[in-house]
Amino acid sequence: MDTETDTIRPLREFVTGMTAMVGQDLPEAALLPKVRTLMAQLIASDRWLPEVFAQPGQGTYAQHLLHCDPLERFSVVSFVWGPGQRTPVHNHTVWGVVGVLRGQETCDEFEPTVDGVRSKGLTHALKAGAIEAVSPTVGDWHRVGNALEDQSSISIHVYGGNIGAIHRSLLDADGVERPFVSGYSSTVVPNLWDRSTEVRKAVS
Ligand SMILES: [Fe+2]
Repeated sequence: MDTETDTIRPLREFVTGMTAMVGQDLPEAALLPKVRTLMAQLIASDRWLPEVFAQPGQGTYAQHLLHCDPLERFSVVSFVWGPGQRTPVHNHTVWGVVGVLRGQETCDEFEPTVDGVRSKGLTHALKAGAIEAVSPTVGDWHRVGNALEDQSSISIHVYGGNIGAIHRSLLDADGVERPFVSGYSSTVVPNLWDRSTEVRKAVS
């Protein structure tokens, strides 16, 4: 990390803003627009994401934890899809806001029906800068993948819980709903808290 220029500052400010916001106990309908605003500020630049958290996995997409609130009220994750990579069809069970940082993603929408979870027949592209929300209220089932064949695509996700440790569901290849706890791809998180650059400037 480039501590001399505090490259990671946008992520620290996002985490600080989110921490203050979740302390207000807002209903989801009031919370999501505010989270979208913070997300728009975060993805306005893509210089802040450390390279180690911008790498896809070997043969599968990666989900790198960037921050988890100590009370697990929210978590921030960088999702990285290499060419040809996509998630299974899955739900979240909590609210989430997704902002596309680099590249372009494809989202296929699904919904629960009396016959199980089925495709809505709706696919949309998410270009860099796009933001969308998921939740059991606004639509919770989808499949997301890289729309580009020659480069990785990256989106930043914030969820209303410690998403890697939440019991949720996916559809297997036969369309059968299965229990799913995603975990995380990374074992470390970025250091957000070296504010020495601004502190030194303040005294010089
Ligand atoms: Fe998702």
